[in-house]
Amino acid sequence: MSLNTIAINQQMNRFDGHASVWLFGYGSLIFKADFPFIERRPAFIRGWTRRFWQGSHDHRGTETAPGRVVTLAPLEGAVCHGMAYLVTPEEFAHLDHREKNGYLRLATDMHFEDGTTAEGIVYIATHDNAAYLGPASELDIARQIASARGPSGPNSEYLLRLAQALRELGKPDEHVFELERQLIALGSNGMSAPA
Ligand code: SIN
Repeated sequence: MSLNTIAINQQMNRFDGHASVWLFGYGSLIFKADFPFIERRPAFIRGWTRRFWQGSHDHRGTETAPGRVVTLAPLEGAVCHGMAYLVTPEEFAHLDHREKNGYLRLATDMHFEDGTTAEGIVYIATHDNAAYLGPASELDIARQIASARGPSGPNSEYLLRLAQALRELGKPDEHVFELERQLIALGSNGMSAPA
């Protein structure tokens, strides 16, 4: 089931009046920056772990055959690495549309490699959203990813591109890499998932 979060996100006024805002990306926002940005820097946030627990009905699956994409689950002591983008507030109209299937804008501190920090926005799909799928075995998640595709392409491409982007960042993620291993063992190359 899909849930359109655009109207809720438009009410977020935490950064009103700011000329630019930091956005932290941990999923497709790492490998697909389809928006203009002023600056981009590797960053991490604390207390969250990346999980393929969110259903995708609009990008990497359909209403009847949802795919799986990442969200963040709270976990004490965890660190989630990703990419931070400095954007103008106008970009949030496009971002809210892109992340509309259950993701909410949350304010977060993000940490950069030079030891500095900034407050900005991260899109998180919490466990109470209508598209949330939650935990499953890595084999079941990989099977679902292998068979799903949506308007943005095969679900397998999302997983493989995320794994590759994390390797390029030098930030291994065991959950993502294990799913990548399972997906490849299932014979999926990210380009030929069935419709
Ligand atoms: C993100 O990348 O930060 C959010 C999840 C996604 O769009 O894949």
